[in-house]
Amino acid sequence: MDQPKIAAKRPAVMELKAGKYAYCTCGQSENQPFCDGRHAGSAFRPQVFEMAEDKTVAVCQCKHSKGAPFCDGTHAGLD
Ligand code: FES
Repeated sequence: MDQPKIAAKRPAVMELKAGKYAYCTCGQSENQPFCDGRHAGSAFRPQVFEMAEDKTVAVCQCKHSKGAPFCDGTHAGLD
């Protein structure tokens, strides 16, 4: 399987309102960390997740977190 593109080696820290979001897993989106449809034609699909409440979170942009869509620190060890 193709590797995702590393959009950035740092998380996007942002306050998300309660609701549903589509996390970009391919790394090609120009609306990081969210899907903008650029995965089309690849095996990647956005990861839909839901926030139960308004909360400040660190959303993974390196696309290698084991806890996606959230940053787990994996970006620090990427080449
Ligand atoms: Fe991906 Fe931190 S930005 S693990």
